[in-house]
Amino acid sequence: MLQLKSDRELGLMRWAGLVVWQAHQIAARLIRPGVTTFQINAAIERYYETCHAEPLFLNYPHYSPGKPPFPAASCMSANDAVVHGIPNHQVLQDGDILSIDTGCRFNGWCGDAALTHPIGNVVPAVQKLLDVTQATLDLAIDLLHHARMWSEVADQMAHYVQSHGFSTVECFVGHGIGRNMHEDPQVPNYVSRSIRGSGDFRIEPGLVLAIEPMVNAGNKRIKLMPDQWTQVTKDGSPSAHFEHTIAITADGPICLTGPPTPEEVASAPFPIDPEVIVSW
Ligand code: MF3
Ligand code: CO
Repeated sequence: MLQLKSDRELGLMRWAGLVVWQAHQIAARLIRPGVTTFQINAAIERYYETCHAEPLFLNYPHYSPGKPPFPAASCMSANDAVVHGIPNHQVLQDGDILSIDTGCRFNGWCGDAALTHPIGNVVPAVQKLLDVTQATLDLAIDLLHHARMWSEVADQMAHYVQSHGFSTVECFVGHGIGRNMHEDPQVPNYVSRSIRGSGDFRIEPGLVLAIEPMVNAGNKRIKLMPDQWTQVTKDGSPSAHFEHTIAITADGPICLTGPPTPEEVASAPFPIDPEVIVSW
């Protein structure tokens, strides 16, 4: 069953989304060649502690029973890593890309967002991958103004990715979000016969979705690394990931993990820096 949220609940979810936004700003400030993803994750974990926010990824149970839970508050997926990379002590290099994905629960409600950063100077083909993936998320949000069913949005997302010669990852999808990080429905970034048949859902006020296209420069196939979490592209091509938590209202979609208004900066019950380092 889809859990529709009231306006009051969307207001509470906005605070969770803003904590996630600020966590990403703190991460973005640290990003440069020479830094490790372990260091960036540590800064995110410190910020959540300051906010009394619960990191949602830390100790998240593995999707295959018996395998280890996720060991950090953020996923750090560099270059050919698609999702669920574990923060490590490898130094980021000029020309790399890094996807940072993180979520928290604040005052009982969840937010989840991801983006892919260029490290220093990246080659134009890689920058295009980042731009197209971000534009795929933007397109989805835009289409939510008028779409009646999710499949209309997902179909356009997949076609947009394909029109640029890239591939949509199909093994991982977005999700409903609320009191828990993963709620119904599943939010795929493509359409298939079975999605049209039983996986589709109506776009209606009160729906909150974590929309998260993952796009590979090469083909869509991925494989699991021996660490049991990191998913990498099978062909070694780079991969990008952008995600926002989006609420549907009668007036259209609202980005709950987007930048704060001055009023929100002034009234947030946790530290918020008005300087915007990165926006997506
Ligand atoms: N944004 C991802 C998701 O929605 C991140 C989950 S990572 C995990 O599933 F560690 F929590 F599994
Ligand atoms: Co998510």
